[in-house]
Amino acid sequence: MYDKKFSKIYEEYGWVYFSITMGKAILKYFKNNNIKINTNLDLCCGTGTLCNFFYKQDIQTKGVDLSNDMINIAKRKNKNIKFVCGNALYYNDFNTYDLITLTCDAINHFLGKDELNKLFKNINELTKENGYLIFDICDNEKIEFNKEIIINRDNGIKVHYFITQKYNLVNTNVKVNKMIN
Ligand SMILES: C[S@@+](CC[C@H](N)C(=O)[O-])C[C@H]1O[C@@H](n2cnc3c(N)ncnc32)[C@H](O)[C@@H]1O
Repeated sequence: MYDKKFSKIYEEYGWVYFSITMGKAILKYFKNNNIKINTNLDLCCGTGTLCNFFYKQDIQTKGVDLSNDMINIAKRKNKNIKFVCGNALYYNDFNTYDLITLTCDAINHFLGKDELNKLFKNINELTKENGYLIFDICDNEKIEFNKEIIINRDNGIKVHYFITQKYNLVNTNVKVNKMIN
């Protein structure tokens, strides 16, 4: 799915907004709890926005993603950060990290109990003792199905979502309008 074509429109669609919002919330949590994070591994890092955000906060960060096309964009945008093409289920660089992140819907790509077990087992290998894993997940109870949801972003992007469900599959239709001044 995250091929050359999709990788190109990914940021135009305004996904960066989610990653930065997530980054701010994560740092706020650690600051409020007096926890110092020195190292981060961002699994399913996409185009590297969260890594870039952490890097600017003096956190040593590294991104891993399955898609070569997403990694290429991440590398192009963030020359000082290490990005690796790899599968989060098996990735191992024999380092451990204070904070592992897997954010902005990334966990939705792992299907079924077996894959999730494998994923968390691998993350356990990559996490320092007393380290943290932060991930997000959609709450089925809170999704509004069959209703148009319109979000006006402060960067002039207007996003329309329409979410439907059939059997166990959730389908999200997304339409993006960019205001041109
Ligand atoms: C919603 S996107 C990126 C979210 C990203 N964390 C962000 O903040 O922009 C999900 C990403 O997960 C990656 N991905 C899917 N399955 C993966 C896997 N098994 N291992 C590593 N990356 C994976 C995709 O290539 C895609 O870039």
